[in-house]
Amino acid sequence: MQVYKVGGAVRDRLLGLPVTDVDRVVVGATTEEMLAKGFRPVGADFPVFLHPKTGEEYALARTERKSGRGYGGFTFYASPEVTLEEDLIRRDLTINAMAEDDQLNLTDPYHGQRDLEARILRHVSPAFAEDPLRVLRVARFAARYAGLGFTVADETMDLMRQLSESGELQALTAERSWKEISRALMEDHPQVFIQVLRDCGALKELLPEVEALFGVPQPETHHPEIDTGLHTLSVLEQSAQHKQPLTVRWACLLHDLGKGLTPEDEWPRHIAHEHTGLKLIKAVNERFKVPKDCQELALLAGQYHTHGHRALELKASTLLELLQSFDIYRRPQRFEEFIAACEMDARGRKGLEQRSYPQADYLRGAAKAARAVAVQPLLEQGFKGPELGEALKRERLKALKAYKEAATA
Ligand code: CTP
Repeated sequence: MQVYKVGGAVRDRLLGLPVTDVDRVVVGATTEEMLAKGFRPVGADFPVFLHPKTGEEYALARTERKSGRGYGGFTFYASPEVTLEEDLIRRDLTINAMAEDDQLNLTDPYHGQRDLEARILRHVSPAFAEDPLRVLRVARFAARYAGLGFTVADETMDLMRQLSESGELQALTAERSWKEISRALMEDHPQVFIQVLRDCGALKELLPEVEALFGVPQPETHHPEIDTGLHTLSVLEQSAQHKQPLTVRWACLLHDLGKGLTPEDEWPRHIAHEHTGLKLIKAVNERFKVPKDCQELALLAGQYHTHGHRALELKASTLLELLQSFDIYRRPQRFEEFIAACEMDARGRKGLEQRSYPQADYLRGAAKAARAVAVQPLLEQGFKGPELGEALKRERLKALKAYKEAATA
């Protein structure tokens, strides 16, 4: 049997990037031979094994045939007769379809190296269409390598467009889609992910609520970029430049969904979009079975981002309501992430990327003032149950009034 490194490990080594995951393909072996050598099988359906010592993945060379809709509809054909070239041709992109042996001899039948040099993401063969998730993968690679100058080949875009139009993306499971989306959002240029999905017609299939933001104007005074879709892309770009965590990036993507519902005769104003957007944010969260921390922050940032921007003008009582809604006493991190999302929203506007955002420190100061109210004296005064809660609120309000006066004096 022969063993080759394949996929990302070869690609990233040739790009001079660090290699984390190494996938290997095994040609000329049977399942029985692999088991006899101590390899551990992964799952029931896939001819994939883990090395007994290193735990790295070894897959038998295989061809795939599509037998139905979606990812479930796959049958695998693995046999010692399947060649390396036959295995590589069913892979997604030419840059992912190279193999190398232990001496670093490259097998590159589909010209991945040429496309690496030309900075092109190009599909290997029509077999690309066997897995619609690849539409998201290509957009993710575009987001990852945008800084190196990579773009998607026209013919690959055409294929992605056909796949999007065929409705096949609807058959993807929430788990597989979310894995791609969340990884793409954590790349250096997550806005490119959304842009590529939009360009091939996949955005309106996967996230029609985000697609709907393009072409919707906002007031030029606050939004020199005017278009809500472009603003959303800029906010996402800012979130990556500021190395924000996934929760914040997800909130950035969804914060303005309500603006897509504003009746045209109200444009460019979007009264109460923070509230109208909530049901859309909820629907998107559920569609992809998004992790709870991302769901929560997206909903809270959707509802309260305008409060964040107006922090210095808020009455002490409104400020208190905001802090209570975030449960800043038990969830300090979540409030920090909200502040970050607001700041990204403020900077994700044309020409305003470097603006200062005094609201951030002001909100932090307010949270600190509210948290500083001690419970003990109230307990000593005999408050308990709901009355204790009311007394705490009164004391916090007092503290916030004093804070506001001092901070804005
Ligand atoms: N692959 C594919 N189609 C998919 C998933 C994977 O063709 N839907 C192939 C590609 O050849 C890919 C390899 O399997 O390079 C390994 O997949 P994976 O580990 O998901 O990605 P990597 O390319 O290693 O990239 P990453 O750095 O994102 O892990």
